[in-house]
Parts: sequence; structure tokens; C-alpha cells
Amino acid sequence: MKNLTILGIETSCDETAAAIYTTSQGIISNKLFSQIEQQKMYGGVVPEIGSRTQLEKINGVIDATLQAANITLDQIDAIAVTSKPGLAGSLLVGVCFAKALAWCLKKPIIGVNHLEGHAFSSFIEHTPPFPHICLTASGGHTSLYLVEGFGKYSTIASTTDDAAGEAFDKVAKLIGLPYPGGPEIEKMARTVDFIDFFEYTRSKKPILEFSFSGLKTAVLYDLVKRGAYDLKSKTLIDCSLELKAQVSSSLLVAMRGIFLSKLELALKTYPNIQSVSFVGGVACNKYLKGALNEFCTQSNLQYFTPSGQYCTDNAAMIALVGHYMAQNNQFSDLNLDIY
Ligand code: KG4
Ligand code: ZN
Repeated sequence: MKNLTILGIETSCDETAAAIYTTSQGIISNKLFSQIEQQKMYGGVVPEIGSRTQLEKINGVIDATLQAANITLDQIDAIAVTSKPGLAGSLLVGVCFAKALAWCLKKPIIGVNHLEGHAFSSFIEHTPPFPHICLTASGGHTSLYLVEGFGKYSTIASTTDDAAGEAFDKVAKLIGLPYPGGPEIEKMARTVDFIDFFEYTRSKKPILEFSFSGLKTAVLYDLVKRGAYDLKSKTLIDCSLELKAQVSSSLLVAMRGIFLSKLELALKTYPNIQSVSFVGGVACNKYLKGALNEFCTQSNLQYFTPSGQYCTDNAAMIALVGHYMAQNNQFSDLNLDIY
């Protein structure tokens, strides 16, 4: 293996992030600017604000990353940048920046798939044995991957509609909780000990594919049935903390059931699996993390989940993927485009 130093850049949505990965030490620096405070007042990500803020922040974030690693640009061997998938304007900022840097420094550039970054994010701090199943749950994606080696992975399930994080964000909005909804839902549910008050109906079809729009609709119609929500004016009538907590708690229990049943089915379909990881923004959820841990312990499987900073969007996972791609000479060129 060559001794390489990789600069990773991530700008696919509302985080501007950079990190340095070295062959001998792994991640030595990881910096990020999050737009959550700016985007909060809109209840979600406004793409135009996303890309403009990326442009304002990228120089500073990369500078801070290099300083923290105590290295200069000429010590970098390659620049890895998220090129897909994401918001076009936001992705363009990172990709254009990386291309300009690569051209000036005469260093190679590597386009990285953001989802591959998430899928290998548990490898930043751990060494899960292969073959491995990764459950990625974020605001934009929910997938199960069969991972057989670095860069060797296939999607065995994705979502036919909303992503898990999106379901949290939408239900949170419905019951008047701020964006992003996931952490708020978890906080609320904790106050009532994760009891399943409303037993939202969920599909019991034995298929790997996820679907969350039905769950979101079940929450909505259950609120209407209880007289807590008016469909015509789209307003929440019962704004009590008690109701918010009960909805949050029931939603989390339903989500737990969905994750466990899909994982169980995946393990039946791929019986030689050695380990499981749970990654993406939703993996910050302690209740869900604990439930999957318990399940894996009972199933005699090793279980890994990244620390919070590597669950939500970050450049460390992009630098890690960039590193093994560089080791395999999988470089892009200056025609690298976004998707
Ligand atoms: O991975 P991420 O930072 O960005 C995307 O690539 O989408 O994930 C963001 C998502 C949001 O939908 C947010 O509500 C969810 O992760 N999330 C959580 C928690 N923290 C963040 N969902 C459930 N529980 C949490 N504690
Ligand atoms: Zn992500």
C-alpha cells in the first residue's frame, strides 16, 4: 500500500465539510460548517441558500482543516470530492473548488459517491469484517447494502418513497416540532419512555424494499381521527406536549419495527454475513442504535455504528473512500461532473 494523504471535500447538501485521511493514521482532521441554523426557519433545506452558503464557507473550512492537520496543500496526494448524489448547486461548489485546486496543484481528483461514503463511514473508527450489511438511513436515503470489500458493495434495498429521516422531518413538521425533526422526535419520545401509544399500522409484506410514506399518512390520519388535526386548514389543533411526545414515541417504535424486520429478512437472504453497521443521520438516534445492537447481539453478529460526527454528513467518509480509490488508481479527471 502506498503512503497517501487525501483531502476530502463534501458539499452535497447543507454542510460544508473537509477532512484529511492519511494511510498511516486514518482521519487526522475533520471540519464542518452546518447550515442547520440558517435553514431552520424554512423547515427544510432551501437549495439556493444551500449553494450560496457553500460558496461563502468552503475556503475557510478547507483552510481550517489543513491547519488542524498541520499540513500544507503541496503535501496532499489527491483530492476526493462528493460528486453525486445531492443538490446540484451545492455539489457544484465542492466539485468546482476541487477541480480548480487539482489543476493548480497538478494533483489527481477523485469523484466520490456520497452514499458510498455513508456505507463505509463505520470503517473510519472500526474494522467490521466482510461480508457485511450496512443500513444507511439519512434525510435523503434509506438503503441496505451488501458490502464485500472496500468499494465492493451492492444495494439490496432502497426506499420506494420517503427516506427514514425525511419521515421524521415530515412528522415533526406536522406536530409543530422544529427542523431537523429526528433529534426532536427522539427527545420527545424519551420523556414518555418509548411507549407505543398509537400502534401505527405498517406494512408487514416480506420484502426488503423500504417505504415510509404509509407510516407518515398513518400518523396524519390517526391525528385527524383523534380530533387533533384539521385536514381542511392543515392545522394542528392539539398542540400539547403530551400529544407531541406520544406521537414521537409511537413513531420511533414503528421505525424500530421496520428496521428490525428488514434487517432480519436481509440476514435470512444473505446467511453468511459477519457484521452489521447502522449509519447516516438517523443512526444518531440512541434508541434505534440500541435496538439494532440488541438484535445483533442476539443474532451473534458484530455490530458497528460511527460516532455522531460521522453519522451525519461529513468529509471524513469521503476522504476514506477517496483513499482506497486512490490506492486502486481510480481517479477522475477535470471533466468530472455532478449528479
Ligand atoms: O445523513 P444526514 O446528516 O444528511 C443526509 O444525507 O440526509 O441525515 C439527516 C437526517 C435528518 O432527516 C434528521 O432528521 C435525521 O438525519 N436525524 C435523526 C437524528 N439526528 C438526525 N433522526 C432520528 N434521530 C436522531 N437523533
Ligand atoms: Zn448524507
